[in-house]
Amino acid sequence: MQKRIRNFSIIAHIDHGKSTLADRMLQITDTVSAREMRDQYLDKIDIERERGITIKLQPARMEYQDHILNLIDTPGHIDFGYEVSRALAACEGAILLVDASQGIEAQTLANVYKAQAADLTIIPVVNKIDLNTAHPEAVALDLHQTFGFSQDEIIFTSGKSGAGIEQLLQTVIDRIPSPQGTTNAPLRALIFDSYYDQHKGVVAYIRVVDGRIDPTDLYLMNTQTPFTPIELGFLGATQYSSPLINTGEVGYLATGLKDINQVRVGDTVTLMDNKTAQPLPGYQEPKPMVFANLFPEDAGQARELREAVEQYNLMDAAFSFEPIKSQILGSGFRCGFLGLLHVDIVQERIDREFNVPTQITTPNVRYQVTRNDSTTVPIQSPVEMPAPNHIQEITEPWCQVLLYTQQEYIGPLLKVSEDHRGIYKNMEYFGLDQTADAAITSRVRITYEMPLSEVISKYFDQIKSVSSGYASLDYKIIDQRPVDLVRLDVLLNQEAYPALARLVIRNDAPIIGKRIVNKLKDLLPRQQFKVPIQAVVGGKVVARADLPAMRKDVTAKLYGGDRTRKDKLLKKQAAGKKRLQESGKVNIPPQVYQKMISL
Ligand code: GTP
Repeated sequence: MQKRIRNFSIIAHIDHGKSTLADRMLQITDTVSAREMRDQYLDKIDIERERGITIKLQPARMEYQDHILNLIDTPGHIDFGYEVSRALAACEGAILLVDASQGIEAQTLANVYKAQAADLTIIPVVNKIDLNTAHPEAVALDLHQTFGFSQDEIIFTSGKSGAGIEQLLQTVIDRIPSPQGTTNAPLRALIFDSYYDQHKGVVAYIRVVDGRIDPTDLYLMNTQTPFTPIELGFLGATQYSSPLINTGEVGYLATGLKDINQVRVGDTVTLMDNKTAQPLPGYQEPKPMVFANLFPEDAGQARELREAVEQYNLMDAAFSFEPIKSQILGSGFRCGFLGLLHVDIVQERIDREFNVPTQITTPNVRYQVTRNDSTTVPIQSPVEMPAPNHIQEITEPWCQVLLYTQQEYIGPLLKVSEDHRGIYKNMEYFGLDQTADAAITSRVRITYEMPLSEVISKYFDQIKSVSSGYASLDYKIIDQRPVDLVRLDVLLNQEAYPALARLVIRNDAPIIGKRIVNKLKDLLPRQQFKVPIQAVVGGKVVARADLPAMRKDVTAKLYGGDRTRKDKLLKKQAAGKKRLQESGKVNIPPQVYQKMISL
């Protein structure tokens, strides 16, 4: 039986056709009937279907030519790279897809390196060969030159027309090794994903490495939790139960456990009565790159938000959170994310899947502040910033940025990168071959070093825009470097409002300050008195706007032209306004805060 199992992932750069290829495999293997079939079948989350992107790994078990094929579809976007790493740890092989009209992109390389590090057999595939703009031969040559695949191991497919898919399935059977585990050894199963079910408790997706699972008493090694599963089975077109999951297989395990902290991704499941002496290595925890604070839109939903983030965390191990309190916004969470798309997706899923609408603060990177006494503390929000005279140095994370593009976009890409404090490192041409098609082969890899805060700002959108969507990007953190960071305070009528403060680069303070004061001027309701709105750095005003006083015609009720009476009323009004201004505190409506924190 074990000899007839193949476990593999499909990996690729974003949009190179993974989910569509998986659709064809599900159809050809009769896993999903023609009636049930719909595009991107394995993209089960609403947002995935609406946005046309995969954000979660998704396993599917298929039967073909007397073999069991466990496929795991993976996301392509860099923010969901942790999903790919976890999927690969459950497999012996990976299908590497490359779009025949685009060629090798940033995440193609990143994913190949991941698959190589996991020691997987890689099947290189040139996909979308039906496109008019396809250059299959040139892309194949690129794959050969970049990764060393031999020309005859490359397969050509179209997920759209179905061309080459049967050959690919046969190649999976022929080339990917069967799982190596020992059936008689004590059970070791790796948890590679999980979610919460109201009735079944935490449901874990597992890969059995040694032994086999039946509904006996089990044990989680890391959290030292005994449990008896209430259901186990496989993930076909939908979940179906089975009394047994064998060595080498991929399946699900409904633990019945309601405490979500007891089931962690990367943990090893073993037998209660015959525990393994050697837990599986699990995963390296992903490092959050950006941080933002999440609060319920309705402060009364604090408990609901807690439940939502805890359960959401089960489905997305790259998301981290810790409770915080804000005077204005109430109880919330400081959250860690892998990038801005990740921030966006988490907020939307918590709203839609848990019915908790939230507000989120502007994402920041994590700075390190060395104080005068040489102690270093991490900070990621303005309230944590020590007073300037206590600071010796502040550093910020820097990345190595790799841009993949066609030659014609080099100029604008360099310009955008320099505008974002990028330091140019080098430029390499790859896959260049005079005999091949110029559209694919004139590709360039440009290396920059750049602060992470710039990479996660508008940089990503700008490189897409100046390259008409053709440039792709990969980055990794390399070190921390000094930064001239300051706290930008906001004063209304001379009083500071800490919830509106921000961390900014000193040189950017006037521009960002101007944006903030103008926006506040637009959003704030007028008061009885004039309100000066100031953006201040270290006591120095860098931008100012004035919110005019509310106008009330105190002379409206006067008939006739009694000038002295009119003047008296106006004078009284002016004096009243002055008094109000002297004692005047501006109350900021919650909606204004909400708009300002995400500015
Ligand atoms: P992510 O998971 O978001 O990275 O995307 P993906 O790699 O799963 O790509 P997906 O299958 O969603 O396809 C992306 C787009 O390419 C969709 O519009 C598909 O219809 C289209 N597409 C996929 N495969 C083919 C193909 O073989 N030929 C053509 N012409 N279009 C394809």
